[in-house]
Parts: sequence; structure tokens; C-alpha cells
Amino acid sequence: MEKTQIGLLGFGTVGQGVLQILQSREDLHIAKVLVRHLENYQGVKAPLTDNADEILSDPDIDVVVEVMGGLHPAFDFITRALEQRKSVVTANKAVVARYGPELLALAREVRQSFLFEASVGGGIPVLDALANHLSTVPIHSVEGVVNGTTNFILDQMDQGMSFAQALERAQRLGFAEQDPSADIDGWDSARKLTILTGLAFHSWVAAEDGVVEGISRVDASHIHRMREMGLGLRLVARAERHPDSIGFVVAPAAYPLSHRYLALHGSQNAIGFLSEAGATWLEGPGAGGVATATSIVSDIQRIRRSVPDREPITLLPSFVDSVDDTYVVFMHDPERPLPEVPHILRSGPGFMVVPHKLAELEGMVQYRYRAK
Ligand SMILES: NC(=O)c1ccc[n+]([C@@H]2O[C@H](COP(=O)([O-])OP(=O)(O)OC[C@H]3O[C@@H](n4cnc5c(N)ncnc54)[C@H](OP(=O)(O)O)[C@@H]3O)[C@@H](O)[C@H]2O)c1
Repeated sequence: MEKTQIGLLGFGTVGQGVLQILQSREDLHIAKVLVRHLENYQGVKAPLTDNADEILSDPDIDVVVEVMGGLHPAFDFITRALEQRKSVVTANKAVVARYGPELLALAREVRQSFLFEASVGGGIPVLDALANHLSTVPIHSVEGVVNGTTNFILDQMDQGMSFAQALERAQRLGFAEQDPSADIDGWDSARKLTILTGLAFHSWVAAEDGVVEGISRVDASHIHRMREMGLGLRLVARAERHPDSIGFVVAPAAYPLSHRYLALHGSQNAIGFLSEAGATWLEGPGAGGVATATSIVSDIQRIRRSVPDREPITLLPSFVDSVDDTYVVFMHDPERPLPEVPHILRSGPGFMVVPHKLAELEGMVQYRYRAK
């Protein structure tokens, strides 16, 4: 069997992880690698180019792997690759969350695969589990801790740092970008939740239509008071299916210290599904070059093994108009003491939430509790 010829768009953390894994493979071959600044890659042993056409217009390339990041030109390159009848694999949650239905429709039209396992949960095979296994029964809710930067910052604050100090340390150690807003304001988690919601409920909820609250309003004093109550904090993304709507929220949420979320540190992620079959949890490395590359190589393998001209893997790109029943957390007024926490939260897997919009409307802090 001939080698699958791969064009790699991007050669950063993830792209280099893909090359590392494929170096020992006989069946998968990286034919070309696109970067922006060739001068930054002197001495690198890879077939580099700074001209995207050398990949997108090369008839010998079967699969294009997009690991550049950003919306543009990533979206445009993916579109061109599909139009050139190449299958595409991407790790780019921004592109998938924004253009997923469009790209899936194009892939279906041109009978190519468009796979994006690495876009959620890095090295955790979460979309495969969702699309090929869990989707056999109705799914009621999906939730997870899907952002490692916020795990790191919240842990630093738990050890006494202010938010600003924790963020500065995260940036210095490479856990946070120089522009950290996507992580700390919750949008990175929200984009991943859009993708999870699309696969779980066959509805593509734009992050902007949900409630998205990051961790920048969390203060170290909140974390200390919560610890005294036996609680800890994680940035949680959660979507629930209701008869006529989908609840979609990203927010810092409080859990008993024994909860699985509080055992996640750094890039560790956990994603759970509540379905007719019960609760299923997946945990593992949510980022990192080689970890994320395992998901990409797995997608490439699926394409290589697929039967030519079969239906490509897809989901229904339907949209919900109204999104309600969104729940959020916490701490609009840091001076106000937390009320007593019901027993169920201390002992069970509950979490503490505040209906966000209600709190805003009434101009005051409201604490509500929901047991899961
Ligand atoms: N890092 C992770 O752990 C992780 C985990 C899951 C998903 N992802 C996703 O994977 C993607 C890549 O992440 P990364 O961390 O590998 O990024 P990165 O380290 O910043 O690398 C980006 C690469 O893409 C190239 N590139 C960017 N824009 C380009 C353009 N317009 N034309 C040509 N080349 C361009 C860069 O080339 P130059 O150096 O020449 O600019 C660089 O080689 C992102 O979508 C990210 O969200 C990353």
C-alpha cells in the first residue's frame, strides 16, 4: 500500500509533535511543511516551505493537517484543501467552533473527511468517544474542565498569589499566551464546548449565544474562603439539553475538594457525559505537542483506513435560535460573604451556581444551589 502523503500547515508545538510521531512510521509521510518565517527554522530537518500553494495545489498530497491556529488564513487554507479533494485534519478549535457546520458541509459535498479530534481535550480521544460510541444513546449533558491555563492560575492563587501574580507566572513559564484573554476570559473553553455540544446534541451553539464568564474576577480571597468551606474552584464548561433549548455556560464553579475536577492540575483535562447509559468520564492530557499530535495522527490513520467514497464522518449542522437555562457562578461582589453551603454540596458531586442574567438584572449577588 502506498504511503499517505501529508501536508503540514504549521510547525509549532503541535506540528513538531506530529513530525516526531511520524518519524517512525512507514505508512504516513510528511511531504511538505508550511511556516511563515523560514528564517526561524534554520537547521530544522523538515521539508519546509513558506508558500501554501506548494501544499494546497500539490496533487500528490492526500491529507492536509492544519496546526497553524487563528481563524485566517487557517479557514481559507482548509477550504482550499477540501476543494482540491484533500481530507483535512485540524487542531484549531477557533476555526471548528466558528466554521464547523460550513466545513463539514463542504467536506460532505466533496466526499472528503474533515476531522478535528485534537481541537477538544488535546490528547484525550473525546470526540471519537462522543461521535462513535456515546452517540448511540441520548446524551443529557456534557461538561468538563478543558483549559489548563486556568487550572494553573487557580492553583497558584490557592497557594497565595494574587490573580495578577499568578497570570504573570503562568506567562513566564509558558502556561499562558502573552495575550491570555482567550484562556482567562473563558472563550477557549467556550469554543471547545461549542464543538462538544455540536457532537452531543447535533446543534451548533455559538459561544457568543451562551453565558461565558472567565476567571479574571476571581480573587485569592475567594479561593481561601471557599477552601475553609471544603470547596475549590475550576473553570467549567457545561451544556445541557432541555426540551426546547440548550443550556450553555462556561464559568468558574465550586466543588467539594474531593471532586475529580480539583485533582486536575496544569494541562490535565476531564470531560464527562451524562447519557441514558449513565455517566462517562474521560481524563488526560488536554495539551502538549506530542499528546495533541496523538489525536492528529489518530485522525490521519482513520482517513487512511477509510473506504474510498464512503460517507465522510459528519454531524448535523442545525442551529438553536434561543439558548436559555444558562447557569453561572459567582462573585460579582467580592466583599459579600458566601452564604452557608448546603450539606449536599459538601458531600456530593454538586456545584454552586448563580443564574448570571438574574444577578445582573437585579443588580445584586444571588447565590443559588443546584445539585447535579
Ligand atoms: N499547543 C497545544 O498544546 C495545543 C493543544 C490543542 C490544540 N492546539 C491548537 O493547535 C494549533 C497550533 O497550536 P501550536 O501551539 O502548535 O501553535 P504554535 O506553536 O504557535 O505554532 C504555529 C505554527 O504555525 C505557523 N503559522 C502560523 N500562522 C501562519 C501563517 N499565516 N502562514 C504560515 N504558517 C503559519 C507558525 O509559523 P511561524 O513560526 O513561522 O510563525 C508556526 O510554525 C492551534 O489552533 C491551537 O489552538 C494546540
